[in-house]
Amino acid sequence: MKIGIDKIGFATAQYVLNMDDLAESRNVDPDKYSKGLLLNNLSITPVNDDIVTLGASAAESILSEEDKNTIDMIIVATESSVDQSKAASTYIHSLLGIQPFARSIEMKEACYGATAALDYARLHVQKHPESKVLVIASDVARYGVNTPGEPTQGAGSVAMLISKDPRILLLNDNSVAQTRDIMDFWRPNYSTTPYVNGIYSTKQYLDMLKTTWAEFQKRFNTSLADFSAFCFHLPFPKLALKGFNKVMDKNLPEDFKEKLKENFESTILYSKEVGNIYTGSLYLGLLSLLENSKNLVAGDQIALFSYGSGAVAEIFSATLVDGFKDMLQTNRLETLKNRIRLSVEDYEKLFFEEAAIDSEGNANIPEYKTGAFTLKEIHEHQRIYGKVNDK
Ligand code: CAA
Repeated sequence: MKIGIDKIGFATAQYVLNMDDLAESRNVDPDKYSKGLLLNNLSITPVNDDIVTLGASAAESILSEEDKNTIDMIIVATESSVDQSKAASTYIHSLLGIQPFARSIEMKEACYGATAALDYARLHVQKHPESKVLVIASDVARYGVNTPGEPTQGAGSVAMLISKDPRILLLNDNSVAQTRDIMDFWRPNYSTTPYVNGIYSTKQYLDMLKTTWAEFQKRFNTSLADFSAFCFHLPFPKLALKGFNKVMDKNLPEDFKEKLKENFESTILYSKEVGNIYTGSLYLGLLSLLENSKNLVAGDQIALFSYGSGAVAEIFSATLVDGFKDMLQTNRLETLKNRIRLSVEDYEKLFFEEAAIDSEGNANIPEYKTGAFTLKEIHEHQRIYGKVNDK
């Protein structure tokens, strides 16, 4: 059976921090961010926009009523969860009006979670061919003011509808995963921001890429020559570029290498404007590739490298199907220009503002601009979400 991504949508915050502004404020050469990290802007969420509102907005942008009546599983992959028990997907199930007889769960392994979610979705559809599964990768990447990670923050959600006979791409039945128990990036329950061994994390990312790619090629008797594009997890685009250079085979013909390079540039266009969205980053790279590549055609094979700190990596592949372009947007970069530009002072206030919960567990939440959904209030420790302007 052919199973894969039938629809893919994206949502991000309505506010943006420009990297040159941040560089000036932090007394850093702007080239360090624009050339050293390959970042132009970061999406910044206010307190009423979180993984639930972003995830629901991303999904709402792609789902039809028929989809909502058919979806029987919703998986939210995240590492910035709003609750230790209740899955974010239960809120999203209700906000979207998905039929009741569905399973809703949350998955976690740092930035890798959505890749496991996709595989679970694929296996579910294999067993229940009429099912559709909604996979949402949703995160707010927050490191803290004046930390080395600060320029690699961001926020956003990628929603993917997994079904049989998909109209964008087939998930091929080939993958290699690798686990290493390492402390490169982690967030204990008592901390709102992660602990990071930054340079070590980049070395682990690149080494897990190298070793997983070698194993993938060996197990499936394949090589870079079989692929039209390679998508990478994108904590910041410069690291993905290093990954691309690592997998590049110098013996390939020049025009083929040029095509791979062109496609790589397409994978990083959105991340340059949005920053790190953790679990969704690889899939934002895929979306960016599909919506911006000038040379991809049906039948092309795409390799994908997923990496989650802690650490788990996986390489798998997908095949583009006929008509995939019809399922995509063409003006997303333009839409990103509509975000509201923040001064560094306002960014520090907005991004790090927390709900002021009183002794009864209530909090009024300021009404900052969001996508289609917003956190309205916290009432007796319960988060109350709703549609924007829907009192
Ligand atoms: N002009 C041009 N480039 C400059 C420059 C200038 N004036 N000044 C510095 N640079 C370059 C540096 O040469 C370097 O590039 P290269 O690596 O190609 O040499 C780059 O800018 C970064 O500079 P530093 O090496 O000085 O590193 P830093 O102190 O800025 O930290 C970081 C970089 C470690 C990635 C930090 O941003 C960080 O900790 N980020 C969070 C952790 C992270 O994203 N890790 C990635 C792997 S883990 C993962 O993938 C999971 C996840 O999503 C978090």
